[in-house]
Amino acid sequence: MVYIQNDQIQSNVPSAWYSSLENFIVKGKNAEIWDSEGNRFLDYVGGYAVLNTGHLHPRVVDRVKNQLDNFSHSCFAFAPHENAVKLSEELNNRYPIDTETKTFMVNSGAEAVENAVKIARYYTNKKAILSFKGGFHGRTYLAMGLTGKDKPYKEGFGPFPEFVKHAVYPYSYRDISDEDALMSVKDVLNNQLDPNNTAAIVIEIELGEGGYIPASSNFLSQLRDICDKNNILLIFDEVQTGYGRTGNMFGAETVGVKPDIVTLAKGIAGGFPLAAVLGKSEIMDSIHEAGIGSTFGASPVSCAAALGVLDAFDNEDILKNANKQAKTMNAVLSNLMNDFDFIGDVRGYGPMIGVEIVSDKESKNPDKEKTQQIISNCKENGLLLVSCGEFGNVIRFMGPLTTPLEQVEEVLEIFSESVI
Ligand SMILES: Cc1ncc(COP(=O)(O)O)c(C=O)c1O
Repeated sequence: MVYIQNDQIQSNVPSAWYSSLENFIVKGKNAEIWDSEGNRFLDYVGGYAVLNTGHLHPRVVDRVKNQLDNFSHSCFAFAPHENAVKLSEELNNRYPIDTETKTFMVNSGAEAVENAVKIARYYTNKKAILSFKGGFHGRTYLAMGLTGKDKPYKEGFGPFPEFVKHAVYPYSYRDISDEDALMSVKDVLNNQLDPNNTAAIVIEIELGEGGYIPASSNFLSQLRDICDKNNILLIFDEVQTGYGRTGNMFGAETVGVKPDIVTLAKGIAGGFPLAAVLGKSEIMDSIHEAGIGSTFGASPVSCAAALGVLDAFDNEDILKNANKQAKTMNAVLSNLMNDFDFIGDVRGYGPMIGVEIVSDKESKNPDKEKTQQIISNCKENGLLLVSCGEFGNVIRFMGPLTTPLEQVEEVLEIFSESVI
């Protein structure tokens, strides 16, 4: 085997795209990966919250192999294929919106968000969009515009669309209450935008990149009311909260609030690139003929993989396991929070848990350096984690929901040894 050293990465890819790990990964199996030096890690980065069903889930692999025996690509707009329609039907049946829904498939989270906004603007014939500080929606221009975290995502890349404005996201640990956030939404709507010209509010149910901060049911249902009163569409960006991350199949079930449109990606196809925009049929069908589309969207291989993922959810108690994981993790992490002054908060829906690192509980000053030290100790001990949050001081757990409980315990043991 040829071992590629870091300098080989450095001479061939832009520095902004350097990897965190020094060695190539050569093998993955459920929650474990191995690198070219033979090191084994528990993968709680999971390809950035993609591997909800783990590396190479057998049901995903079988479906993909089967698909590859037949054909690998067809542009759906020209030659339809059954897996895309089956998957759309499954998603329409499963996503908790009361009216009939329809689903359109693209390649990435950003592309799904772009299309959701495009569809909302067309349907409402309104222009402006409200999103949230701390929110992350992707790296294309409109998605960057919607994103409410400047560094590293937006800095130097402007200008961004003028018709997007940001409200404050609720953050109880830092004293931003639901009421404060709702006031901010109303203020932005009335003073920076015009509710009569606002097409949609785009929000994550729990901030991902923004620091694993959950929004409450109370806040989201009041947001729903604001949308209803002003003919504004509510778009949930469930790219990260979907597919079991919050303990239910979809975050909307966890909070009991229903959007008009939702974006899904990441875990939807078990590691293959795929994203979906699902919305009320009346909205989705409003677009003129060929007004939406994508060459690679609904790739037959990714759709096959996605049906394998649903098979796994239907037959393997994945949600039950996700909630058991969450219970075990919360118990251990809360004890650590009681023991250590620098663990300020442990929070999140289901297994989508963030641990906020501060210099001490009283000042709550974000401690990025300590955060990086803990992450680096974990890596030395065989556990992969990354940070998030405005100040880079939140450690997030994005491992497979299929991780066996013994390995969840191993994760927590390593973490406990590494925080000291
Ligand atoms: C909530 C959310 N929306 C959108 C995106 C963008 O997805 P992608 O990287 O597939 O474009 C992400 C990616 O992290 C995300 O977390």
